[in-house]
Amino acid sequence: MIEGDAAAGPGSRHRAPFRLAVVGAGSMGAQIAQQAALHGLEVWLQDVSHEQLERGLGSNRSHLRRRVEQGRMTEAELEAGLARVHPTGDLARATEDADAVIEAIVEDLEAKRILFAELGRLAPAHALLASNSSTIGISKLAPVSGRPDRCCNMHFFYPPLVMELVEVVKGPETSEETVQRALALAREMGRTPILVRREIDGFIVNRILHMATQEAYRLLDAGVASVEDIDTAVEKGLRWPMGPFRLGDFTGLDVTYRARLHMYRTTGDERYRPSPSLEAKVRAGELGRKTGKGWYEYPEGG
Ligand SMILES: NC(=O)c1ccc[n+]([C@@H]2O[C@H](COP(=O)([O-])OP(=O)(O)OC[C@H]3O[C@@H](n4cnc5c(N)ncnc54)[C@H](O)[C@@H]3O)[C@@H](O)[C@H]2O)c1
Repeated sequence: MIEGDAAAGPGSRHRAPFRLAVVGAGSMGAQIAQQAALHGLEVWLQDVSHEQLERGLGSNRSHLRRRVEQGRMTEAELEAGLARVHPTGDLARATEDADAVIEAIVEDLEAKRILFAELGRLAPAHALLASNSSTIGISKLAPVSGRPDRCCNMHFFYPPLVMELVEVVKGPETSEETVQRALALAREMGRTPILVRREIDGFIVNRILHMATQEAYRLLDAGVASVEDIDTAVEKGLRWPMGPFRLGDFTGLDVTYRARLHMYRTTGDERYRPSPSLEAKVRAGELGRKTGKGWYEYPEGG
């Protein structure tokens, strides 16, 4: 049930010492909300799509069910963790008494600006407003909220129920108090935060990842080694869980391509220019696992 079920009643909300709202229940938002709830926070999860809310909650349940089967969590912990996530389609309801709001909606600047303006009106004046965006720095969103000092990026990694890192990024107007609150919130959610002191495209992890994977593409384009051998070199020699090409297939080569193009356009740095072989894959519609073929082939059901 999305609205009006017993768990989502306002009473449950006031028991929590810290109230969190997560806006957007897609791949990231649903799990960010669940991660916080597993650590005892009462969380309201809002999305404009009822189906996305249902899907997100269902997927969280399956994820946690596996933990119970593996003996990493009890049935009671599973139920308590799920019950602390209160889904709703109503943004005002989700944010009206929030101490912090984490935005995880589509990666679209205009949509995020409209949302931040609304959050500025709806959330209590003291509330922290954080964006999980991978590419939109908080300086582009904070001004419309009317409280730029209380805004920052909190960049989680996919899948948030597994990945421990959160990059907290201080925008030009973010106050020191807000930075400390965001770091504390990430820790309270059982995550390890790092502070990016100055807003910069790609933050830390994606900049390093892009550079390393760009080098892999350059080696491929220059005919130095095969896709398989470069992946094996990185997996066995650097102990990455997946080589750059396997990772690209997993993420989606269109996503990988767009991320490079974004970095190339925003920095003007030639080192980020997308590789010709990556461009060719995207043009051919070979986007990785989701299309059954990318750098590798993925037979249906295989
Ligand atoms: N997917 C990743 O690997 C990843 C990693 C880190 C950060 N991010 C960032 O997280 C954000 C979300 O990414 P995602 O992959 O979860 O996207 P997604 O497409 O899976 O989910 C986006 C959700 O936002 C909802 N939505 C759209 N407009 C809305 C609005 N105005 N109000 C409320 N809900 C709205 C959609 O219905 C959808 O459920 C993006 O900013 C992205 O850059 C993504």
